[in-house]
Amino acid sequence: MGTIQGKVVLVTGAAGGIGAAAALLFATEGAQHVALADRDGERLGTAAETVREAGGSASTHVFDVTDEPAVAKWIDDVVAAQGRIDCAFNNAGINLPSTPFHEMEREVFEEVIAVNLTSVFLCLKHELRQLVTQGGGGAIVNTSSGAGLVPAPGQPHYTAAKHGILGLTRQVAREYLRHGIRCNAILPGITDTPMLRGGGDELTDRARDGLRRFSPIGELLEPADVAATAVWLCSDAARRINGQSIVVDGGGILH
Ligand SMILES: NC(=O)c1ccc[n+]([C@@H]2O[C@H](COP(=O)([O-])OP(=O)(O)OC[C@H]3O[C@@H](n4cnc5c(N)ncnc54)[C@H](O)[C@@H]3O)[C@@H](O)[C@H]2O)c1
Repeated sequence: MGTIQGKVVLVTGAAGGIGAAAALLFATEGAQHVALADRDGERLGTAAETVREAGGSASTHVFDVTDEPAVAKWIDDVVAAQGRIDCAFNNAGINLPSTPFHEMEREVFEEVIAVNLTSVFLCLKHELRQLVTQGGGGAIVNTSSGAGLVPAPGQPHYTAAKHGILGLTRQVAREYLRHGIRCNAILPGITDTPMLRGGGDELTDRARDGLRRFSPIGELLEPADVAATAVWLCSDAARRINGQSIVVDGGGILH
């Protein structure tokens, strides 16, 4: 019997990288259903197919996580089909090129805050509404970053968003404990995903810099390494873990 046996699971940013790896692992750990969300419909379809090939049940939901009515509809659609939700992995995010703080345009700052922080607020809001409506219980994991603890050079927007996710996580953990709902954050290190390769095969300069600074043994994490912690936090094995921020980087942040 898997650690997620019989649960209905939501995953954002599920078209690739950490989200796709988590969707697959939720399924192989026995989820009743995994609802994969992303704005990239083509890659999302491939990720869902991988889940089905592994014997899981998957649906695809193509929308922008900054669009509140679309977020609400996603959850309504999943509840209409599956009857409830049990776990959510709020993981979608973007990473833009680095810019000196004093040269950063407001619009660029606000774009990253919208996608990486406001979207997590929106997902949490509608997930909590549903979890409370159905009588409580449930587990939520949000993807922050090492940049949630240590500033990422040239990335004030990303750093602010990822710090903010830790605040939202603790807020939910504190306020919804009485409903039996847990909320934790994971802080991945440098992980080999499309985000690090800027759409191509080569690592971006920022990824190389991050690898130099935070991976003293020069090794990228695999998406499955990070996904394993998200899935574990959603499982009953982590039922006493709430409001925590768990760094998944092999210890790189200590250097
Ligand atoms: N890769 C790393 O080294 C690393 C390190 C720390 C934190 N993270 C975080 O992990 C999470 C997953 O990133 P990843 O590395 O797997 O990268 P990724 O680019 O493979 O995955 C991110 C996914 O989010 C989706 N997305 C982006 N904006 C969206 C929007 N507005 N609406 C809907 N979907 C949207 C993308 O289409 C993509 O599929 C992100 O929050 C990222 O900040 C990644």
